[in-house]
Amino acid sequence: MDYLQIKGGAKLQGNVTISGSKNAALPIIAATLLSDKEATLTNLPNVVDIRTLLKLLKMLGGEVEHDNTVAKINNASINSTKAVYTIVSQMRASILVLGPLLARFGECEVSLPGGCAIGQRPIDLHLKALEAMGAHIEIKGGYVHAEAPDGLHGAKIIFDKVTVGGTENIVMAAALAKGVTTIINAAKEPEVVQLCEMIRDAGVEMEGVGTDTLIIHGTDRKPLKFKDTTVIPDRIEAGTYLCAAAITKSSITLDKVNAEHIRTSISKLESMGCSFDIKKDEITIYPTETIKPVSLITMEYPGFPTDMQAQFMAVAVIANGESLIEERLFENRFMHVSELNRLGADIWLKGNIAAVHPVQELYGADVMATDLRASSALVLAGLVANGTTNVHRIYHLDRGYDNLEGKLAQLGADIVRLKE
Ligand code: UD1
Repeated sequence: MDYLQIKGGAKLQGNVTISGSKNAALPIIAATLLSDKEATLTNLPNVVDIRTLLKLLKMLGGEVEHDNTVAKINNASINSTKAVYTIVSQMRASILVLGPLLARFGECEVSLPGGCAIGQRPIDLHLKALEAMGAHIEIKGGYVHAEAPDGLHGAKIIFDKVTVGGTENIVMAAALAKGVTTIINAAKEPEVVQLCEMIRDAGVEMEGVGTDTLIIHGTDRKPLKFKDTTVIPDRIEAGTYLCAAAITKSSITLDKVNAEHIRTSISKLESMGCSFDIKKDEITIYPTETIKPVSLITMEYPGFPTDMQAQFMAVAVIANGESLIEERLFENRFMHVSELNRLGADIWLKGNIAAVHPVQELYGADVMATDLRASSALVLAGLVANGTTNVHRIYHLDRGYDNLEGKLAQLGADIVRLKE
């Protein structure tokens, strides 16, 4: 198993290119199941989760040519509609094949994803919505068995909670359903918007894209033909590099980024004392010598993203006062707290609120990555900890960060990947 070894204290400088968004690419790849023609996707991030989903498509009988950032996918030859446990257990987002498989083929079996480190993460809202669209669903032997032999029909779906994956699954299902589907309380994340635009560009009439009410006019099982799609920049990767600059008190420039998508992270870093030069697809961050404490609550987009909570906590650790961080989306997304404390942080937890007390210094130690974003928070802390920090179990990082150690090393960090 690999681990990252970081010697803290180096300043960062220069430019870093932001990769395509993992969370945008995953539903886009799943959406290719709505088509029986070749689809070309570019600016894919080079991360394990993308390879896992492409592998699933191949297991279903799809033809996939993949070369780092480009994939050509042809799902004309799909001959299985079963997403097996071995893949879904590696990556929860595999559940995104449920809507498109059911809509195009009228039946599918998808392994239940189960819980994960950050919480239970049920899929009840996905299933309830598909049932409202005429699906018959049974849970048997750890699998969701879904059937709609005559196809799905349009319906009015009211999500009790804003769900990114749920919205994406239902948008894809609705694209091939018969009639009109209205989704109320839809997610508005940029990744959801890109999926909607891709489906709309393929000829599906859709209103309300980017709002919390989506109206989708289905094609009644006529497969779609997608235009070439370039994945949007990864807003979480971008935010993570801004935090790397803030914590190391360095100035760096992010290339190929969409500032609009990370405005909450930018405004929180401004409140902590950093300043910015923002151009069309380029952002330069100027650090502050004295980081001010922050108070933040995770929310759905355009609120502060839960996927940036751990990284901001790492920066808050060296602020000059107490920060308060409230996690509202996932019930167990504070696994990084005890690991940050092993590096000398002083963080206290009460329920879903973390109080981050200021400390003078962090000290290198062995720490363990617990989930994707928690892992990057440990790397950020390692960049400023005195001595050597070893971050173990970095397979979590590899799922979602494209060449994190290579990009950080290029910026001047002392970081290497080693074998246990
Ligand atoms: C996506 C992102 C993930 C991000 C999260 C929230 C991808 C691949 N992953 O995850 O990085 O942290 O959005 O921004 O895009 N819920 C239910 N029932 C459901 C579905 C969700 O109760 O059927 C709950 C979840 O447990 C959670 C909340 O709704 O508390 C939001 O989850 P959701 O938006 O669905 O997250 P994901 O799509 O899994």
